[in-house]
Amino acid sequence: MLLAFARPCRGTLVLGMGLMVAESALALAVPWLGGKLAELFLPGHLAAWAHPETLFLTLLTVLAAQALLKFVNVSVLGAAADRLAADLKIRLYDHLQALPLGFFHQRRQGDALALLTHDVSVISGYLSGSALGIAPLLLTVCGALVCMLRIQPFLALLAALLIPLFSLGIKLVGRRVRPLARQLQEEHGRAIALAEENLGMLPVIKIFTREPEESQRYREQIEQIVRLSARERRLYAALGPATQLLAGAAVVLVLWLAHGLLGHGGLAASQLVSFLLYGQLMTRPVAGLADLYGQTQRARGALGRLAEALAEEPEPRGERRQMPAIRGEIEFRGVTFSFPGRPPALKGLNLRIGAGETVAITGPNGAGKSTIGHLLLRLHEPSEGSIFVDGVDIATVSLRSLRSQIGAVPQHVLLFHATVRDNIAYGRSQATQQEIEAAAKAARAHDFILGLPQGYETWIGDRGVRLSGGQQQRLALARALLKEPPILILDEATAMFDPEGEREFLQECRELLRRRTVLLITHRPASLELADRVLQLKDGALVGAGEEERAFVPAE
Ligand SMILES: Nc1ncnc2c1ncn2[C@@H]1O[C@H](COP(=O)(O)OP(=O)(O)OP(=O)(O)O)[C@@H](O)[C@H]1O
Ligand SMILES: [Mg+2]
Repeated sequence: MLLAFARPCRGTLVLGMGLMVAESALALAVPWLGGKLAELFLPGHLAAWAHPETLFLTLLTVLAAQALLKFVNVSVLGAAADRLAADLKIRLYDHLQALPLGFFHQRRQGDALALLTHDVSVISGYLSGSALGIAPLLLTVCGALVCMLRIQPFLALLAALLIPLFSLGIKLVGRRVRPLARQLQEEHGRAIALAEENLGMLPVIKIFTREPEESQRYREQIEQIVRLSARERRLYAALGPATQLLAGAAVVLVLWLAHGLLGHGGLAASQLVSFLLYGQLMTRPVAGLADLYGQTQRARGALGRLAEALAEEPEPRGERRQMPAIRGEIEFRGVTFSFPGRPPALKGLNLRIGAGETVAITGPNGAGKSTIGHLLLRLHEPSEGSIFVDGVDIATVSLRSLRSQIGAVPQHVLLFHATVRDNIAYGRSQATQQEIEAAAKAARAHDFILGLPQGYETWIGDRGVRLSGGQQQRLALARALLKEPPILILDEATAMFDPEGEREFLQECRELLRRRTVLLITHRPASLELADRVLQLKDGALVGAGEEERAFVPAE
């Protein structure tokens, strides 16, 4: 799994690992050279080195090469980490975007955001840093051990015994770090979600004067993170000095024993220098292993969450079949649909709408009116029954070919933080200014747009906050009309229009709507007049459903 994520930059990662290994190998040469150097200074050894400068130069070269390797390595791996994080983010974003809306209805938005930000960086950092470090760490430990064995087997074995002791300590602490790391991550996600939601809900918070409570809620969340983080830090903090203490004790022990051996001629002083330097070389990776363990646990948590999201089934993309140019005949045949854990929102719905018909659907709140539109757009899939457009089962054609031919003004208008122009042209970015203005005129939006400070180039704020509710709705309508779709779903699209504006719109639209099939979801009497037929929906079924069976008369 982890390797699958690393595949795109495996070349760089392998190069980085190679550099690390080379650097570790060089590091192993330093104690040996140190020992030789010691010989220079000890009485009686001078004769052995006719050209001491070679030794100094070699040592300098090794140190310089080490520094250079480190520099290249850090640059290479840093670039790999950035690339990995970027690729992961793009892949995850595309996946999230392809998921059905139902996925997001079951979760908080903050969860997805935390995945994209925090979890992705944990994983990329781990892959390009800690995970690669393991080979050089092991190489250093093993190499140092072999060199030590050659110098003095007894002392080396003693040092080797201490290593399992280290790892045992690491494991014990690590076992406690893992659930803590996961919990900490979840709390981070909750804090992001809370802030995100509250800032979006600010008008409600202010109107209900709930600032102190919300502030308190956020503070508690942050305090919880601080508490957990402190616990995690204490564990890590304990691990470092404990490792150091053990390492220090080992050195003292070695010195102690060496003292006895030296006395009996078992170990030359220069060998002891090499030995201690190797010992020191070994303690660094062991401490590194402690870190590695904690980081592995963190990365595993992040990876688990990422894998979970990536395993979610995206909307079907496989269908090759294209929806032919739509004439506009719609048929729901025995369609049942329920949201997860809810009673059915639509129950065996049978519905036939002729091409070019304008059908109004009314009914109490929660009757399932909006759900009809969503199913037609395949934002959700029916659990039973099928939906046909021009006799084609819409479940068998590509989503793109279907959705591109259906226009919709949703009940809750969603606009982008962009200019008026860009919002209207969202569905047809190549539309000319003339076409945009024509759509705006039809939606009765042109006049108010001209009254805005920069006209069509005015920025409208997040979700259109700088516009009135009715103005937002008119923009959404213009956006849908510009698409010139053969099927148009208007879900309370004029609910916020003033009566005058609505009347004008309906007058204007009579011609416009006649050329397409329109699903008019509305309670407004003025809009109902526009319809060829009015259907009553109640509890997910049509009232007087028998009537539906009669052949309809197309509007032409
Ligand atoms: N995302 C969702 N998850 C679970 N249940 C939902 C979801 N959206 C809607 N519902 C439920 O499905 C039923 C039908 O909802 P729908 O939005 O179609 O009603 P409606 O007729 O459009 O109502 P309104 O007149 O208020 O717009 C309702 O009982 C509602 O509670
Ligand atoms: Mg609705």
